[in-house]
Amino acid sequence: MLSVAPGRDPLLRRPFGIHDFVQVGEEEARMKILYQVCGQGTSLMTGMKPGEPLDLLGPLGRGFSYRTGQGDTAVLAGGIGGAPLLYLVRRMKEDGLQPVIYAGGNSATEILGASEFHALGLSFREATMDGSRGYRGSVVDLLLEEVEDEGKLTIYACGPWAMMEKIAGISRERGWSMQGTVDSHMACGMGLCLGCAVEKSQPSSDRKYLMVCREGPVFDLEEIKWTPPGPSVNVETGPAIQGE
Ligand SMILES: Cc1cc2nc3c(=O)[nH]c(=O)nc-3n(C[C@H](O)[C@H](O)[C@H](O)COP(=O)(O)OP(=O)(O)OC[C@H]3O[C@@H](n4cnc5c(N)ncnc54)[C@H](O)[C@@H]3O)c2cc1C
Ligand code: FES
Repeated sequence: MLSVAPGRDPLLRRPFGIHDFVQVGEEEARMKILYQVCGQGTSLMTGMKPGEPLDLLGPLGRGFSYRTGQGDTAVLAGGIGGAPLLYLVRRMKEDGLQPVIYAGGNSATEILGASEFHALGLSFREATMDGSRGYRGSVVDLLLEEVEDEGKLTIYACGPWAMMEKIAGISRERGWSMQGTVDSHMACGMGLCLGCAVEKSQPSSDRKYLMVCREGPVFDLEEIKWTPPGPSVNVETGPAIQGE
């Protein structure tokens, strides 16, 4: 959670994933964040000067996990969803996994971090909706064209809700394993405001929701309902049910 300006405007921190680490000398590493400018906070970030301090709370929540020797692995990035996947893929490669990376966007300019993914020397496949680079269509359709129906696959995905919903449905049908990130509005980042709640797939009598900031943002396929959350949570009455 980054405080994007020194004063109180904007008041709330903004959530970002860790894009990569760069070693600087023997004892120091720099953390990289890859971001898309879409509002007040990210616009302010573009005006920052090198060396200017930035207040950061983290690392928070739960990230991706993998096992060495787990077999066929696909990493699926939708637009800015590629941001937190580079470091994951780098670590997988260091541990001997050979994931195939599928990156997609509406057009070529939306495929982010392509040169860094390429530099890893793994299979890097691209899809754009307008056909300006790689396969014409969605990144999920490209994956479906290239993998066998019956094979076992473990998927790591980060992208917009529509992509996550689609790949979760397909993974369930085909018996694939999947871990994916959930994009939700976050205010506190620590499980206090309840603003980031998502519905559990199998609610228990005492728990219907999981907090994306603390229990995610990465969830297993079976943990949650992969559908966009409804209206934001009222801290007094708890999360609103979709359609209520
Ligand atoms: C766990 C997590 C990790 C993220 N990692 C990254 C990252 O690595 N790089 C990156 O560029 N972005 C990332 N995001 C999204 C990023 O946090 C938002 O885009 C950011 O808050 C925008 O701040 P802003 O002040 O520029 O825009 P705002 O003024 O806060 O918002 C601009 C517009 O985007 C909408 N919006 C804001 N946050 C979200 C959200 N989470 N989901 C859907 N719509 C939203 C707002 O409703 C508004 O319409 C991440 C989000 C989450 C939850
Ligand atoms: S962001 Fe406040 S509870 Fe998750």
